[in-house]
Amino acid sequence: MILPAAGSGQRFGGVQNKLFATLEHVPLWLFSVRRLRLHQRVGRILMPISASDRPRFETEFAQAVAESEVELVAGGKERTDSVRSGLEALGDDDSVALVAIHDAARPLVRHDHLDAVFAKADQCGAAILATPVTSTVKQSFDDGHSCHTLDRKTLWLAQTPQVFRVDLLRQAYAKHRGRPATDDAELVQRIGIDVALVPGSPENLKITYPHDLTIAQAILNIQSQHEH
Ligand code: C5P
Repeated sequence: MILPAAGSGQRFGGVQNKLFATLEHVPLWLFSVRRLRLHQRVGRILMPISASDRPRFETEFAQAVAESEVELVAGGKERTDSVRSGLEALGDDDSVALVAIHDAARPLVRHDHLDAVFAKADQCGAAILATPVTSTVKQSFDDGHSCHTLDRKTLWLAQTPQVFRVDLLRQAYAKHRGRPATDDAELVQRIGIDVALVPGSPENLKITYPHDLTIAQAILNIQSQHEH
């Protein structure tokens, strides 16, 4: 599993990486790691981090890093650079057939959804969690002066985890040179591979804005009730 955590979190508005914000007193990156660790399909966790965050991971969080057996690797300028670095750090481990990529900023992914996306990737080699779009979506090519409506029955919001046969992801990254992509599925599609969409849930939200922490706490309360 590659767990990109090297973002700057500009939209979160703080001076520090948003992944140091806490949910129930646990930093978001560690919350994500702990939840993933409890899933049987998750083995090694390679976490790309930025150079500026490294001192904090190596001092304040050194014990949490050691206990959760997360492997820190150097992140990059763009998310794809960070994932590439994780993929390189994975090396040529023959025992690894599938590699999952999950945003450290999505701490609340459910285990039944992890089961489902891994199972689909076992079958077809490339699968991602996604949710059907519930709002009407407008597209504009002139900054909102005019727009048209997309057929929302065909639209999904991509989430993570995104799970791929490791050879496919390596091919996709070998071919990818600089063209921006906001997720890994797009890179895999560009080499001609179909990526399956596995229905997930809005519970798997990506913490982006400060108010997302309040929503995350509410989701966590609901998830905890269902566990007991
Ligand atoms: O910015 P956003 O939240 O969409 O980023 C998704 C995930 O990718 C986050 O967990 C973030 O830390 C990570 N990321 C990264 N390297 C970058 C940019 C983002 O690891 N250069």
